[in-house]
Amino acid sequence: MQQPRLEDLDWNEMYRRARQEKSWKSKGAADWDRKAASFAERTERSIYTEKFLALLQPEEDWSVLDVGCGPGTLALPLARRVERVTALDFSARMLEILQERAGRAGIDNITACHAGWGDDWQARGIGRHDVAIASRSLAVPDLRAALEQLCRHATHRVAVTDRVRHGPFDPDAFAAVGRPLRPGPDYIYTVNLLYRMGFLPSVAYIVLEEEMVYRSLEDAVESYRWMFRDLDPAEEKRLQKYVRSITTSADNGSLLLRRRHVPTWAFISWRP
Ligand SMILES: C[S@@+](CC[C@H](N)C(=O)[O-])C[C@H]1O[C@@H](n2cnc3c(N)ncnc32)[C@H](O)[C@@H]1O
Repeated sequence: MQQPRLEDLDWNEMYRRARQEKSWKSKGAADWDRKAASFAERTERSIYTEKFLALLQPEEDWSVLDVGCGPGTLALPLARRVERVTALDFSARMLEILQERAGRAGIDNITACHAGWGDDWQARGIGRHDVAIASRSLAVPDLRAALEQLCRHATHRVAVTDRVRHGPFDPDAFAAVGRPLRPGPDYIYTVNLLYRMGFLPSVAYIVLEEEMVYRSLEDAVESYRWMFRDLDPAEEKRLQKYVRSITTSADNGSLLLRRRHVPTWAFISWRP
């Protein structure tokens, strides 16, 4: 059989097809609204933010566009370190949480923008920034269009994080519950597509915590429920049993959870 040539591969089309095979359903704005509070709480104490900022190396005169900003995971700490931040998200609830948090912290250099990847950003008054970022928010049907949109809105640098293999999903939990895990396309499509678009992306990896601390078994199980839609009672039992099997008690009464597959993100950056 004749091998395909690298230059003939259409990475955007391959990405589109791989997305159709994924086992999880893409979330709309209403889904993210519902998840906003728990997502904000779950990510608040993660080392992800610190590692992302260490790789980005923000400079104090930058303007930054944060696409899919969520509850301000990066927009808030960035606002303290750069001149101004535009925080864009299609979930109104995420933006509300971001604004509440900014208000409490006395941060006044963030402009929140309620818009999606598919919207006309220029019509919303979003111009070019020094740097555009999209952190864990590249779950789009047309990857090339999203990357081009980021490039059009940044003069100095673009940085995105994308899943490595299963990303935040835990393959062992899926096996225990008895559901297949097809995580869909990961960062390797993005890197190859960028190369084909003429950029020279650099890649670093953000490896998250090997061990997580929870107040109770229920808290630990709750941190897993977002991975599954509509667990039936038997699946819920199997999930609880799995989570119990990977936790141990600490001296102070809290629970330590250690998973075999540690979530890893690819930090991809390039000059637009
Ligand atoms: C996993 S969260 C990431 C939030 C934040 N950037 C972080 O790293 O913690 C994904 C975010 O992207 C937003 N999002 C998803 N699809 C979007 C779209 N089509 N347009 C705008 N925002 C979107 C969601 O509302 C959510 O806030």
